[in-house]
Amino acid sequence: MQLLDGKFASEKIKTEIAAEAAAFLTQSGRKPHLVAILVGNDGGSETYVASKMKNCEKVGFKSSLFRYDNSVTEAELLAKIEEINKDTDVDGLIVQLPLPKHIDPEKVTETIDYRKDVDGFHPVNLGRMMRNLPCFIPATPYGILLMLQAYNIDTTGKHCVVVGRSNIVGSPMSILMARNANPGNCTVTLTHSKTHNLKEMVLQGDIVVAAIGRKNFVTADMVKPGAIIIDVGINRETSTETKSGYKLFGDVDFENVAPKASWITPVPGGVGLMTIVGLLKNTLASAKGEIY
Ligand code: GUN
Repeated sequence: MQLLDGKFASEKIKTEIAAEAAAFLTQSGRKPHLVAILVGNDGGSETYVASKMKNCEKVGFKSSLFRYDNSVTEAELLAKIEEINKDTDVDGLIVQLPLPKHIDPEKVTETIDYRKDVDGFHPVNLGRMMRNLPCFIPATPYGILLMLQAYNIDTTGKHCVVVGRSNIVGSPMSILMARNANPGNCTVTLTHSKTHNLKEMVLQGDIVVAAIGRKNFVTADMVKPGAIIIDVGINRETSTETKSGYKLFGDVDFENVAPKASWITPVPGGVGLMTIVGLLKNTLASAKGEIY
């Protein structure tokens, strides 16, 4: 078994991004600029957004955070998005999900100018992705592709089984792995919580992408010997063992699955770190006008 080390891959790519951001600054007199909107005080969202902002500074981007409490109205939030859409100093805008129940995430997503949608959630970007056109690819699937690339893993002709069909990870991942591209060129099976014979399905995977949001969901008996295992799960449990007061678990039973796998991502230290790299790459591409 070999580890797909998110720390190694993300640091390597961030060094390249930093060099490109410096060149962009010299040429244009400005830094790539990412804006994040965070509503409420969900512990996970706080951590992710803080990490996104910190990583922007690290690679020489400008970052801005607008925080709202849970009581913000949908109209107020949409008005702020419209304002940021018009700001020519902003290259990327993300609204951290989940949002409180009274705010429609579809409305929020569609209000963001697709040319600044560095999360790749807007229907225009998803549609363009389906057609293999230049677009912002959702950050987590993009990060997974970058991880496979960093380790020179050839995915062509392999059977990729995706577990979980979320808009953010599972659905776009299934499209990307089937595209005429490398990484890609896979035969893809998209499975989810209602799939019959899930174990038999996952057992067929040369590559398994676990993105169902349940701790230790993929167990050793579900995995073909030699499979490549990508664990997208970030399941938080409170813990007295750690300083932060919580502990992270993946969707894969790492201890028992790892010995059967050819490659596997750890949690933490795997896909999570690559998601941020995907977001930074999209923001840089937006600043440079490479997509739109
Ligand atoms: N919530 C969980 N993952 C993500 C992500 O990639 N982007 C945003 N905006 N919210 C998220």
